[in-house]
Amino acid sequence: MSHHHRHDVLVIGSGAAGLTLALTLPEHLRIAVLSKGSLASGSTYWAQGGVAAVLDDTDTVDSHVQDTLVAGAGLCREDAVRFTVEHSREAIQWLIEQGVPFTRDEDPGREDGGFEFHLTREGGHSHRRIIHAADATGAAIFNTLLEKARQRPNVELLEQRVAVDLITERRLGQTGDRCLGAYVLDRASGEVDTYHARFVVLACGGASKVYLYTSNPDSTCGDGIAMAWRAGCRVGNLEFNQFHPTCLYHPQAKSFLITEAVRGEGGLLKLPNGERFMQRFHSRAELAPRDVVARAIDHEMKRLGADCVYLDISHKPADFIKAHFPTVYDRCLAFGIDITREPIPVVPAAHYTCGGVVVEARGRTDIPGLYAIGETTFTGLHGANRLASNSLLECFVYARSAAFDILEQASLTPLPEQLPSWDASQVTDSDEDVIIAHNWDELRRFMWDYVGIVRTNKRLQRAQHRVRLLLSEIDEFYSNYKVSRDLIELRNLALVADLIIRSAMQRHESRGLHYTLDYPDPVDPPQDTILVPPTYGD
Ligand code: FUM
Repeated sequence: MSHHHRHDVLVIGSGAAGLTLALTLPEHLRIAVLSKGSLASGSTYWAQGGVAAVLDDTDTVDSHVQDTLVAGAGLCREDAVRFTVEHSREAIQWLIEQGVPFTRDEDPGREDGGFEFHLTREGGHSHRRIIHAADATGAAIFNTLLEKARQRPNVELLEQRVAVDLITERRLGQTGDRCLGAYVLDRASGEVDTYHARFVVLACGGASKVYLYTSNPDSTCGDGIAMAWRAGCRVGNLEFNQFHPTCLYHPQAKSFLITEAVRGEGGLLKLPNGERFMQRFHSRAELAPRDVVARAIDHEMKRLGADCVYLDISHKPADFIKAHFPTVYDRCLAFGIDITREPIPVVPAAHYTCGGVVVEARGRTDIPGLYAIGETTFTGLHGANRLASNSLLECFVYARSAAFDILEQASLTPLPEQLPSWDASQVTDSDEDVIIAHNWDELRRFMWDYVGIVRTNKRLQRAQHRVRLLLSEIDEFYSNYKVSRDLIELRNLALVADLIIRSAMQRHESRGLHYTLDYPDPVDPPQDTILVPPTYGD
């Protein structure tokens, strides 16, 4: 039997953004935080590098803003960049107060800004400004925030709950457009429950799982983007998919990232013959922005027919490597690679979705009562290419500003009454789950081949043709069979793939992460790609 649940705030996603919002709201608001798997199953837990912020005396807001604008290749919204960077110190202070065990600087002297925590450097940053917890920053932040959330009596942390769709006044045929809650599959009971909420917050992460090779965990299926689009929200700049240059290349290593901080601390990229190559592509060599490094690796691999290139930090003292990169060291050693002695085989893989649901500085979407924060969103911060370690920063800054906005409106916003239960009367159990698995594989493979690091018109047309076929098959499946996590994710992935392809087809230039052989040059003036959903009944 399905159930009805009532909360002031329903947060869909239990990563850095969702937990920060829940912890920033006061204790008189009843909050549900949903995770579709275990609470740690999102991307936050796996983040290695850290959080970019202006923290020491020798760094400036202007310098961080400038680096972000340069990486964003003309498409950052400067007000969003400035807003984020200006709130960076305060966000880090809040994390320190929560107890996040950031790595301390053993010798904080005047010459390195006198800051008590160690700051590392990553590609595209002209200054050391990445605060981190060795090379497991995401896990340190996640564990700390989760522990805090567990101590809050007003926060319910619910695992194995998969949001299917948002409930809006429009969906119910009422006048108005407000978001009233969500339908959510409880994987334990197999029932779809109805969640009533004054405010719904999408904090579901990005969509990198749309690609065959990704640094992300299995959960990043674009759920928030797909739900928001179906509910009537605009999405922006979805063609900008960031490929991380260095994921471990090993037959048994699924999705393991080698943090950019390895290059920040002196790691060198080499061809299979041991020769360095990045200086041929950019004056900052290994520390060029990510899109440049990923494309250079892709180019060299294709030129040489090589399976991978190599990242070498073995010239640094072994103690230094083990102290700064314990996670990378242990994981590589488990695959028989001792990074203190030999180079690491690496390849690029899909890493981050720069576009998403269009929001303003308070995280408000186009639909009243519906917020979006973190990687699910398009805030204008990242432009055509995200600067390393700006993503966690965006999670904290926007989660906190959304929480303040929700708090201001909470007493004026009634809890929705009497929402209809999910109707499962017309569907049966599926006996054809092989179709879901097959479609999932097919989708991720053609997205990798046709909508990857280098694109062409023809490849995009092929991808669009295929995704449209898949979408109609999935729709039919969805109308006839009971929903499962796999089906919900596939439905969302296919929709987001279609939105990515449409966005890529609209951009007749190469800029940042969108590189096409048919339009190799940038066009002036740069413009965002904003897709507007059809209104119901169209
Ligand atoms: O390389 C990294 O550690 C990743 C950082 C990021 O994606 O911001």
